[in-house]
Amino acid sequence: MSEPISPKRVRTVHLQQFKDAGQKFSMLTAYDAQIASIFDEAGIELLLVGDSASSVMMGHSSTLPITTEEMLVFTKSVVNGANRALVVADLPFGSYEGSPAQAVATGVRFMKEAGAQAVKIEGGAAMADHVHALVSAGIPVIAHIGFTPQSEHALGGYRVQGRGESAQALIDDALALEAAGAFCVLMEMVPEELATQVDRALRVPTIGIGAGNGTTGQVLVWQDMLGLGSGRVPRFVKQYANLREVVSQAAAQYRSDVSAGSFPAPEHTFEG
Ligand code: KIV
Repeated sequence: MSEPISPKRVRTVHLQQFKDAGQKFSMLTAYDAQIASIFDEAGIELLLVGDSASSVMMGHSSTLPITTEEMLVFTKSVVNGANRALVVADLPFGSYEGSPAQAVATGVRFMKEAGAQAVKIEGGAAMADHVHALVSAGIPVIAHIGFTPQSEHALGGYRVQGRGESAQALIDDALALEAAGAFCVLMEMVPEELATQVDRALRVPTIGIGAGNGTTGQVLVWQDMLGLGSGRVPRFVKQYANLREVVSQAAAQYRSDVSAGSFPAPEHTFEG
């Protein structure tokens, strides 16, 4: 068996090489420099500055309210913390759908002002012209299909997409986005069999979240993956830690040390 591909710095071409070699890759969301550097050092190949920041960082109930200015700050922070991983920024709701020209104008800001190395936009074949315009302007694009959280209200809530007769439309979307130049197609909440079929139909790699094990890569929101949140955990999430418990116990211990007068101790204290 040949050696796994392990680039010094991950670029879009490597993701294609991974797929061609039958090698899987991992993506996690990140929104700040410290978490980005931890994931980068752990070998995570892609960091997604997701507009999930709207919920997990800012406390909004959906991804819709976050602005381009806010996403630019999160993106710069992740770029500052990453050395090896490819940093991908979500273009937020309302910043690209209007026209291919609007998509290019926003995409350029993420590449130029924040240092992103690629962008992700949501939507199927209707976004093919936008993808084409971005790619023509030198901006690599991941196309996000299946459940697209920015269209939560149009889709009638969080539901699995591509079941039954709509499966063919999802395959057609993926093919149209690949033809438009997307270097990767991300599928969210899609039946495993369909996601696997899409991965096989495309030349470019796919990434799944709630799309089973047949995609080339996987992505999770880091707060879900590390158990920081308090709400219901989606079925497709595997929790690798319970940070909420760790952080909560540490905060309670700190408070108890302060009220008992045992912190700060002499070793935390300056002498005159
Ligand atoms: O914003 C985000 O975190 C995402 C992932 C769910 C793929 O788009």
